[in-house]
Amino acid sequence: MHIIFLGPPGSGKGTQSDLIVEKYNIPHISTGDMFRAAVSEGTSAGKEAQKYMKAGHLVPDAVTIAIVKERLSKDDCKKGCLLDGFPRTIAQAKALDEICQELGHPIQLVINLVVDEKALLPRIEGRRLCKVCGATYHLTNNPPKVAGVCDKCGGELYQRNDDNAKSVHTRMQAYYSQTSPLIDYYSCRGICKNIDALRSIEEVFKDIDKILRKL
Ligand code: AP5
Ligand code: MG
Ligand code: ZN
Repeated sequence: MHIIFLGPPGSGKGTQSDLIVEKYNIPHISTGDMFRAAVSEGTSAGKEAQKYMKAGHLVPDAVTIAIVKERLSKDDCKKGCLLDGFPRTIAQAKALDEICQELGHPIQLVINLVVDEKALLPRIEGRRLCKVCGATYHLTNNPPKVAGVCDKCGGELYQRNDDNAKSVHTRMQAYYSQTSPLIDYYSCRGICKNIDALRSIEEVFKDIDKILRKL
């Protein structure tokens, strides 16, 4: 299964991806996670990405397409993969079409998480992540058993440096102007499924799982 997650910042792409990976055991390719790893490793791609990410702007297409192309050509993606946060522009979607054609793995499904804009900032401001395994929590919606400590691995929880009101505003603008046109791009092909992502994490996953079982 080759799947894309679409949805604004805070809609639950990462949270739902973790649940899918746990059940279906396919690689989770999150460009945001890849850039954050590159930033902490201090690579040249990381240094370039950091300038844009902190302020909430999109990283340039050429940099983003190059890291995804390299990742998708690895053997573990042959059986399928889950793209979270890519593509985010029409240029990236067109590049992905070319990569898929070269690799012979067409995109089968696009899951579009639909959320009322008002719900997004509280979700993002309350988000905490594990420094060690990357697991996602929320201070009230999905809290860890012990405050500040990851349930899965005992790692310390932290807040992303772009999870503040100013950067979130810029990320939303980028989403509406550059990413939301992708809903039409994939709907025209009949592969885009809208999911009401305002419900609980478990209810959203139940709906997604129903669709995945039919793939
Ligand atoms: P990225 O890391 O992808 O951030 P984003 O798109 O802004 O999305 P988020 O990760 O903030 O939200 P999410 O949908 O994953 O929500 P989550 O599941 O965590 O990108 C970061 C930056 O990298 C970009 O700004 C850009 O600079 C760069 N970048 C990345 N990809 C790029 C690309 N393709 N091109 C160019 N630049 C790129 O959930 C959020 C919170 O809500 C959590 O606390 C969670 O516990 C909670 N929650 C989740 N679901 C529910 C629910 N159903 N009910 C209640 N709470 C919930
Ligand atoms: Mg995410
Ligand atoms: Zn952890």
